[in-house]
Amino acid sequence: MRAIVFEELGGPEVLKIAELPDPQPGPDEVAVAVAYAGVNFFDLMARSAGHRVAALPFVPGVEVAGVVRAVGERVTGFAPGDRVTAYTAAGGYAETAVVPAATAFALPEGISLRTGAALPNIVPTAYALLHDMARLQEGDRVLVHSAAGGVGTIAGQLARRAGASAVYGVVSDLGKAEHALAYGYDLVFTADTFADDVREATGGLGVDIALDPMGGEVLRRTLGTLGRFGRLLSYGNAAGGDLWQVGPGDLSTLGAAVASFSLPRLAAGDPARLRRIADRSFRLVADGEIQVPVTADFDLADAADAHRLLESRTSTGKLLLRVSER
Ligand SMILES: NC(=O)c1ccc[n+]([C@@H]2O[C@H](COP(=O)([O-])OP(=O)(O)OC[C@H]3O[C@@H](n4cnc5c(N)ncnc54)[C@H](OP(=O)(O)O)[C@@H]3O)[C@@H](O)[C@H]2O)c1
Repeated sequence: MRAIVFEELGGPEVLKIAELPDPQPGPDEVAVAVAYAGVNFFDLMARSAGHRVAALPFVPGVEVAGVVRAVGERVTGFAPGDRVTAYTAAGGYAETAVVPAATAFALPEGISLRTGAALPNIVPTAYALLHDMARLQEGDRVLVHSAAGGVGTIAGQLARRAGASAVYGVVSDLGKAEHALAYGYDLVFTADTFADDVREATGGLGVDIALDPMGGEVLRRTLGTLGRFGRLLSYGNAAGGDLWQVGPGDLSTLGAAVASFSLPRLAAGDPARLRRIADRSFRLVADGEIQVPVTADFDLADAADAHRLLESRTSTGKLLLRVSER
């Protein structure tokens, strides 16, 4: 089979197309003939910094949609020919991906394989952050960083749908504001001024919920945008600074809370809970309540170009790789 491999860490140029043996499913795994694979910020971190790379050479890619080719001997509920979407630790940028059956999902009726490949990472992440963790309630004011990106595009729509009274987005460049405004955001601020902008927009009250994939100094400034009993959800360190630390001195004045989320850890540690979150959130997509806009797709062999686009910070919505037509 053809797959994208990197043998060393580095820039997009380390991604090479290669011919590899077809992987076989283990007892609890499913082999998927991949139609489309999702491209995620996570993949950039794997390629450039070795994030969650067990060993080199490495086939990146944490989400795919396609058709089941074979199932392991202990797998129930899937059979060859089933259309599925799946979350996996690695190996998605390939014609055949072996994924844990525990994090494979039947493709809901009405969802194409193309949209299906865009679901497993960003949709459950945005849903878990807002609903399972932040316990979003009607009337809450919500702030989301990287609002025009994959997770941000879903989070804006989920917050709006759940009755948030205001949904504020932050982007690094206002050229991306139009995209965010089309997917649930009321106002979009830039990263340099967002803390002042939130204070002004809320009359000094601050937000109830803030979603932060940036970390570092951005997380510190985001903490300053919380109102009484505000909840800050950290789910990444894209700014690349030191890992954050907070204590009672930062939180007790307002009764604020900070929590941290990891989809890979949820998938590995509690796949049944992930399945409940996926069922609920994929249903919203199937019912047309939220959109998952795929803004660009690339041939598998051109994965490096997809990484260049994501790294440029100019992309919006979701990027995919076309692996085979189905
Ligand atoms: N914890 C988890 O389980 C989990 C799961 C999924 C995603 N995430 C995190 O959520 C964030 C969004 O992920 P995604 O896959 O949906 O990506 P994405 O939002 O489509 O793209 C990444 C976004 O991050 C911002 N960014 C900040 N620093 C960047 C850099 N050095 N290079 C490129 N972009 C940078 C850009 O937005 P601006 O330029 O507008 O800031 C860009 O739009 C990422 O930080 C990712 O690690 C975490």
